[in-house]
Parts: sequence; C-alpha cells; structure tokens
Amino acid sequence: MCSIYMLVVAIVLPCCFEILSLNCGTLMKETLRYLAGIVGPSGYGSKSTAEQVAHSCSYLVDSQRLTAIITGATSGIGAETARAVAKRGVRVVIPARDIKKAAELKERIRKDNPNAEVILCEIDLSSLASVKRFCNEFLALGLPLNILINNAGIFSQKLEFSEDKFEMTFATNYLGHYLLTEMLIEKMIETAEQTGIQGRIINLSSVIHSWVGRDCFHFNQMLHPINYNGTRAYAQSKLATILHAKEIAKQLKAKNANVTINAVHPGIVKTGIFRAHKGFITDSIFFIASKLLKSTSQGASTSCYVALSPQVEGMSGKYFVDCNESNCSVLANDESEARRLWRQTRALIRRRLYQTPC
Ligand SMILES: NC(=O)c1ccc[n+]([C@@H]2O[C@H](COP(=O)([O-])OP(=O)(O)OC[C@H]3O[C@@H](n4cnc5c(N)ncnc54)[C@H](OP(=O)(O)O)[C@@H]3O)[C@@H](O)[C@H]2O)c1
Repeated sequence: MCSIYMLVVAIVLPCCFEILSLNCGTLMKETLRYLAGIVGPSGYGSKSTAEQVAHSCSYLVDSQRLTAIITGATSGIGAETARAVAKRGVRVVIPARDIKKAAELKERIRKDNPNAEVILCEIDLSSLASVKRFCNEFLALGLPLNILINNAGIFSQKLEFSEDKFEMTFATNYLGHYLLTEMLIEKMIETAEQTGIQGRIINLSSVIHSWVGRDCFHFNQMLHPINYNGTRAYAQSKLATILHAKEIAKQLKAKNANVTINAVHPGIVKTGIFRAHKGFITDSIFFIASKLLKSTSQGASTSCYVALSPQVEGMSGKYFVDCNESNCSVLANDESEARRLWRQTRALIRRRLYQTPC
C-alpha cells in the first residue's frame, strides 16, 4: 500500500522533489510549463517527441554512420528510442534477454526504415557474467561505438536475488550497467578519437532518486536488503545511476576523452515497468492521472536529445528532464558519495568476476 501511495505522488507530481524546493510561484510556473509543454532553453519541452528531436538532429546523424547500443529496447522507452534513432540512420545494437521480442522490434524498425541496421545480441543485465559475455561478443565484431544508452530497468515489488546473489533491482538497474559502461568505455574513447565525433553515454534515471536520503544509501544494504521495499530499492538504483554518471564524467574529463556521460529522467510513462504494480488501485491512479503522463514517444525524447543533439556537445555529468538540463537532489550532486559508490562497485565487481571465471 505504501508503494502505491508513493506511486501516486510520482505520477501526480512528476517533478515533485525538484519542485518542493521551489517557492510557490515557481512551483506553479514549473507545473504549468510541464502541463502545457512549454519549451525550455533547448527549444524542446515535456511534449516533444523522440521523432521530433531525432529528426532535428539528423544532420549530425547523417554526416557519418553512428553506432549505438541501447539496453532495454525490447519495450517501452527503449524500444521507441531505438526506433527513432534507427530511423535517422544510426546503426542500433540491441542487447536483450528476450531475443524473440528483440527480433519483433527489429522487424518494426525495418518497416520504418528498410535500410536500418539492427544487430541483436543476448544479455541479462542482472548477471555480471552475461554482461561480460555480451561486451566480449560486441567488441569482437570490431564495430565503432558512439552512443551507449543504459536504459533497461525493473521496478519490482518482490525481493529477489540475481545469480550473483545481489538484490535484483540494484543488480539490473545499476550493477549491470556499471560493468557494461566499464567494459565499453575504451572502445567509445577510441571511436571518438578516430572519428572526431563525441561519444555519448546516457544513464536512465528517475525523478524518484530524490526520495533517497543519506541514511538509506548504504552499499551493502542495497546489495542485501533486510527490510525490502520495492519503491525504495528502485529509487536507490536510480540515484546510483546519477552518481555513476557524475563520477565517470569526472574521470573522462581527467583523461581528456571526447566522451560524455549524462543522466536523464524520461518523465512518467505507462510502460511495462509498472507491470508488477497492476491492480485496481494502480490502474485507477493511472486513469485519473492520465493527463499528466507522457506518451512513450515523449518519454523517449530526452534520451534522443542527449544522445544526438549538437546543443549537448561537451556537456557531461549533468541531469536532464524534458530535454533540458535540470537539477538533481543534493545527494545526487555529492561528489564524494559518487566516488565512494564507484570505488565500492569496482571492488565488488573485481572480486566477483575474479572468483567466478566466465
Ligand atoms: N516508465 C516510466 O515512467 C519511467 C520513469 C522514470 C524512469 N524510467 C526508466 O526508463 C527506463 C526504461 O523503462 P520503461 O518504462 O521503458 O520500462 P519497460 O517498458 O519495462 O522496459 C524495460 C526494459 O528493460 C529490459 N530489462 C529488464 N530487465 C532486464 C535484464 N535483466 N536484462 C536485460 N534487459 C532487461 C526489459 O526487457 P524485457 O522485455 O525482457 O522485459 C525492457 O526491454 C528504465 O530504466 C526506467 O527505470 C521509466
């Protein structure tokens, strides 16, 4: 019941935590801006669609064939992101746990753009061994890599553990993408050097990251929670993805690499991610709040914007909402927290992969 209540707040006030820190006048203005779809400084707003955004960036896309890996593209926001960028000529690599679903998406993409190049591979992001296998398989193809969209995600009510024995939401949403990024980042740096085109990494986060206070952001407890709460676990994983983007952005800058990494909140979209929350109450909430929800295409617009827009050139370690730079929580901005999380994750993954040869 508690998580349903939290869901209500998330849907009714999609930007509630950013908004709560504003005064009443600004709150009204921000809510009206969201509802009316008034565009921000980027020229886009909450009602911009993935297709509009990708289309206006097409000169960049057409100038040279780009290659993008998009996780979680078998449904929802990821599927629409893949469709929109493939339509503009980007070669799309889709790592998926359900290859049949991925093949259906490939067919849909090819209907839209018969010349689209779509490559399917297997991955289970909750398994470090599977992520490692995918990366080795991808690297063996010898393709360049310009864009990595860490989009896959789950929001589970039930406490489950991955094959590595870590809490499933944290393992899927954060740990798997951490390893994916780590194993592919050199390829992205190399591609950027060879082509002169900036590489871009996009982490799908959520406004819900702001719900996490310092007192419930402890690495070991997130790996092995005692009192599981699905909404809290989801929010923690989404905070981790922003901190990851902040820390990697710093490291890329220190290396002088022509690759950026940013986090995005796509907006609230009724996708498969809420499948575990089905029921009369949730369905009623979605029905009542339907005017506040985004369509899937609107939800995919911010990922497309950050991946393709020349306006984002050079921007790294930022957080975007409705295709505009936005503010994340104080904790998400904490550099020492980001560094600590990165160190702990690296140590964990080293230990795990070392002990389990794959
Ligand atoms: N929808 C929203 O309102 C909302 C709001 C804020 C943030 N987000 C974020 O946006 C991203 C996309 O979510 P969505 O709403 O589009 O959800 P969705 O429709 O449920 O899509 C999630 C995708 O992730 C994939 N996935 C899940 N677990 C995986 C695993 N272990 N290995 C590989 N792939 C896995 C799913 O694959 P299968 O097809 O095999 O299940 C699916 O393709 C997520 O990161 C989510 O947290 C969504």
